Amino acid sequence: MDNQRSLIQKKDLSSEQKWPWWPLLPLYPYGNRPTLFRELIPGQIWSFEQLQGLYYVAVPVRLTVVKVSSGLMLVNPLPPTTELLRKLTELESKYGSVCTIVLPTASGLEHKISMPALARAFPKANLWICPGQWTFPLNLPSELVGIPRKRTKTLSEEGFPHMECCTWIPLGPLDIGLGRFQEISCFHKPSNSLLVTDALVSINSEPPELFELDPSPLLFHSRERGDDPLEDTPEARKKGWLRLALFASFLKPEKLSIPSINKILLHAFKPGLRNPRSHFGVFPFSWQEGWEQSAKDLIGARQPNIQIAPVIERLVFPRSKDVFLDWLDQLKSLNGIRWLISAHYKAPVTFTPRQIKLLIKKISSEAWATDKGNWRFLDALDKTLLKRGIVPSDPLAPFKD
Ligand SMILES: [Fe+2]
Repeated sequence: MDNQRSLIQKKDLSSEQKWPWWPLLPLYPYGNRPTLFRELIPGQIWSFEQLQGLYYVAVPVRLTVVKVSSGLMLVNPLPPTTELLRKLTELESKYGSVCTIVLPTASGLEHKISMPALARAFPKANLWICPGQWTFPLNLPSELVGIPRKRTKTLSEEGFPHMECCTWIPLGPLDIGLGRFQEISCFHKPSNSLLVTDALVSINSEPPELFELDPSPLLFHSRERGDDPLEDTPEARKKGWLRLALFASFLKPEKLSIPSINKILLHAFKPGLRNPRSHFGVFPFSWQEGWEQSAKDLIGARQPNIQIAPVIERLVFPRSKDVFLDWLDQLKSLNGIRWLISAHYKAPVTFTPRQIKLLIKKISSEAWATDKGNWRFLDALDKTLLKRGIVPSDPLAPFKD
């Protein structure tokens, strides 16, 4: 009887996790999006996390809920599944209705894609979007992608929401070829928290809690070959997580090679692995000795490094280090800043003016956007895009007076 009840509960929960719009951006876990809900700063800030990624290279993406004087403000949209909306209704009953939804990035596709659906879920909320929105492959105006013009304002150009408790700090704009990179960070004074989208990350050394709901990506990447079974152990989860962090940071880390097709097929389709969860035993990766050290260097020795994500540094800011430093300089003077809440990875993490000064010092003195070690693939990609004229050599040119 208990088993039957738990099966029914699981089925109910699964129907609450459906996301019908997933074909618009077909990322893992596709049409089923389990959500983790957490309170980050008591009575002030809450977080919803869902996995999003390509080919099991999935990392948590966060929607942040902020208490403002007239209710709740949502920052960085996520697919509004029934499960997510149910939890939000509970928060609304305690802290007031959702009055504002903010899309603070111009380029982060994984954040933009669910803005229309989230806007429809809260028809009375005011919408604010980062200037310079663009879509790919066709550049469509915001109203055509489903962001209602009547209740939408553009950050900076038409002011900012909730200035009584928030300070807004733009990073960019930069011309990145296909469109613009810009994000507008929010410093929420009552909680001393800085909300960013992709600009800064702090990578967990242990697998994020969200993977408790679905450890499959970790187990898949913890293996050495396609005929290794997906075994669920704490060691496998940790190993898989460190590899995922390397993938997401460098796309093709130094210690990863791609085996020949013959080798991949030799280990594919083995008994027990002929199922979609195991990708039928197709595992086109081979990790070389030393990958653990790469992961340690990325994450940090004692406490997680707060850093610009390598992929952002090398592909968005390779020729604009000063723009990033100017932004950090503005953060340094935010009165009372104490926490960083990014749309990815660990949150909240301590982020004080002293830490910001150290980060500025580190970035100023170290090599930026290099072509060494783990950075080699990103470097080659940037150079190719530059050579073909897909990215401009001067990303600031269109924005100069
Ligand atoms: Fe992002």
